[in-house]
Amino acid sequence: MDDVRWKERLAGAATPQLEQEIDVFERQLELRKEGKIEDKLFAETRLRRGAYGQRYDNGKRWDGEKDQTLSFPCGDLTKGPETVWDAPGMVRLKIPFGALTAAQLDVLADVAEEYSDDILHVTTRQDIQLHFVHIDDTPDLFRRLAAVGITTREACGNSVRNVTGCPVAGVCKTEAFDITPYAKALADYLLGHPDTQDFGRKFKIAFSGCATEACGLALMHDIGLVALTREVDGKQQRGFAFYVGGGLGSVPHQALALDEFVPEAEMLPLAQAVCRVFARHGEKQNRARARLKFVVKKMGIEEFRRVVHEERDRIPADARWTAWIGDVAAHDQPKKPPAPALRVRKPGDPLDAWWQTNVRPQRQSGYAVVSVTMPLGDFTPDQARGLADLAREFTGDAVRLTVEQNLVLRWVPEADVPAVYQRLAALGLAEPGAETIVDVTACPGTDTCKLGISASRGLAGELRQRLAARSAGHDEAIGGLRIKVSGCFNSCGQHHVADLGFLGVQRNVDGRRVPHFQVVLGGQWTHNAGQFGLAIGAVPSKRIPEVVDRITARFVEERTVGEGFQAFVKRIGKSKVRDMLSDLMDVPSYDQARDLYHDWADPREYGIGDIGVGECAGEIVSVAKFGLSDGERVAFEASEKLERGDAVGAAKDALSAMLLAAKALVRAQTFDIDDDPARIVEQFRARYYDTKLFFDPYAGGKFAHYFFALAGRDLDQSSHDDAHHYVEEAQLFIEAAYACEAKLSAQSAPLP
Ligand code: HEM
Ligand code: SF4
Repeated sequence: MDDVRWKERLAGAATPQLEQEIDVFERQLELRKEGKIEDKLFAETRLRRGAYGQRYDNGKRWDGEKDQTLSFPCGDLTKGPETVWDAPGMVRLKIPFGALTAAQLDVLADVAEEYSDDILHVTTRQDIQLHFVHIDDTPDLFRRLAAVGITTREACGNSVRNVTGCPVAGVCKTEAFDITPYAKALADYLLGHPDTQDFGRKFKIAFSGCATEACGLALMHDIGLVALTREVDGKQQRGFAFYVGGGLGSVPHQALALDEFVPEAEMLPLAQAVCRVFARHGEKQNRARARLKFVVKKMGIEEFRRVVHEERDRIPADARWTAWIGDVAAHDQPKKPPAPALRVRKPGDPLDAWWQTNVRPQRQSGYAVVSVTMPLGDFTPDQARGLADLAREFTGDAVRLTVEQNLVLRWVPEADVPAVYQRLAALGLAEPGAETIVDVTACPGTDTCKLGISASRGLAGELRQRLAARSAGHDEAIGGLRIKVSGCFNSCGQHHVADLGFLGVQRNVDGRRVPHFQVVLGGQWTHNAGQFGLAIGAVPSKRIPEVVDRITARFVEERTVGEGFQAFVKRIGKSKVRDMLSDLMDVPSYDQARDLYHDWADPREYGIGDIGVGECAGEIVSVAKFGLSDGERVAFEASEKLERGDAVGAAKDALSAMLLAAKALVRAQTFDIDDDPARIVEQFRARYYDTKLFFDPYAGGKFAHYFFALAGRDLDQSSHDDAHHYVEEAQLFIEAAYACEAKLSAQSAPLP
């Protein structure tokens, strides 16, 4: 399909704005190749478009003894510091609340096949990731996704990440109401919103339909929204308990209640106010303390609440805050009529075992939710197409990804469950054990993540296999436990909220490195991630299956009637658990136990030689710098138009370029600036010209004069010579704007 020009073929298929954004990104790629965009800026640009780095993209691979250089044809060209242009990368797609249509699944299958390593990976935040993608393929990849309504915008970088929500929203028995349209409204509203562009760190939002179950994990998010109803004047009013400042990472924080009940009409403006407060008060220099949780902690929740409400009152009203509320009742409809099934249990029948763990009744009688288990969150393009067909035939478009890295089919008529099972079995997707101890969750770890220390996926795969082999013999109490694995302390695998959590660390023994996992016990998955686990100690990776065996066996033997795992861990205490594992913590010498010096699913001797520079949220690039870079791009396009003889087009672009740069500087001081040229000129004059902030030590206000003069001209009459001048003036103005930005950022001292 090399000859296909996706840009022309798909013209008009996505929104004009999205099409234009992708065109701009393609242009930025060209400019980077020509050396006209610096690498840090390009890195943040691509991260905001969902194009991440991936392990080995620094051109090095550890072979077990030393680093080997991987050679790529691109020479010195990088897509960010230490990220070689031709090295493979990862692309994260944003899938709000994990909802996918059959048509989207088909396109995902095609792009995975054509641009990646043939794997669709479900993440721990209901997204899809593709790996081993070449950066040059990303514009077309984005176009093909955009044509079916999928964006990668702000899937990474310091931005509002994917908005997550219960995968069974709308069909769940315990929900207050279906959170789907609310999550969609907030995700749509904040995507690309000017108030979310100047964060010091990523920002995560989750919705939950109820307070007790696990699905939403609201309390470990920057904003967590738990659906509630209350009665006002005899009428049911919908709203949310609104939590702020939760997050995992190396220092997990529980979110705190900002408001016990926020009516639905207030949800968007209040979330917007939180974003504005975060942009203004969040740390920008020290990435380790830049999440919202640190702002909440520093201010205290009372002061934070006061500041947010004050900000809320200041935001000009926006019709979009409530425009969607009229449509909340319309949600996905079943494809087929309900059909209850009389289930005849046949012990030993694989269908029976699968039904027990992977099928749940819906709130709507006669329908079931079917969980499709995806070991390690991976599925293939052919499986994706098969799932799309299944959805079309049985359920309509109701497919959702889960934070447990599975996929659920909703609205399956119960009578069709056996047929669906047969179809899944034919696709190799009928493994039982969804949402049980067998269903181990893991981050990408050393497989593809640059920061991975231990093989989280390797361990998860091993545990899954061992536990599945014994699943029939499991005590019921064990079956319900959750295992989650992160490859390092960043916690992408959400190990803090698992019954048995593991995070990758390494230890030195006689000068050699040994892969380990820190054991974290008793985290609470339910109650929206209601409690974090206790760190017990580090055990070599290869001995973790033994850790699982010992702890689960002890739980079965010693638990009191009705005692849950968290209560059990608390009762016996950290030191007793540690005693139970202490012999496993001693590492024999290399010659006595070579196996321990290897990690799971990796034949190489263990080492961390190929750890790279993390790209969890990119470098901090100020919002002003972004706008300036945009201005620079448009000035460049102006010069191209001039070369082609389009004087009027060039003159207009020269002015647009200056407006973009001026707006960028204004925005560094205030949120309240839109695209109205007259207002940009007025604000720029008041803030930067009258105050002399923009003045050049040598040329004074000269470059600002160019701007003011051009803004007052009738550009439709521009001659070629006029346009030539304007383009040059635009370039000088942008240079001066960069100098001004540099001067201002040097003056603003880092936050304490
Ligand atoms: C300092 C860098 C990083 C930090 C602090 C970090 C932290 C986190 C945390 C806390 C979560 C999710 C838990 C949650 O809130 O739901 C997460 C999600 C995730 N992280 Fe990272 N991470 C970092 C870098 C990376 C890198 C380099 C990769 C590998 C490419 C990665 C892969 C993932 C994945 C796959 C998810 C689930 C993603 C999603 O769909 O949003 N992370 N990260
Ligand atoms: S937890 Fe660590 S190893 Fe795993 S994906 Fe996150 S940063 Fe990478």
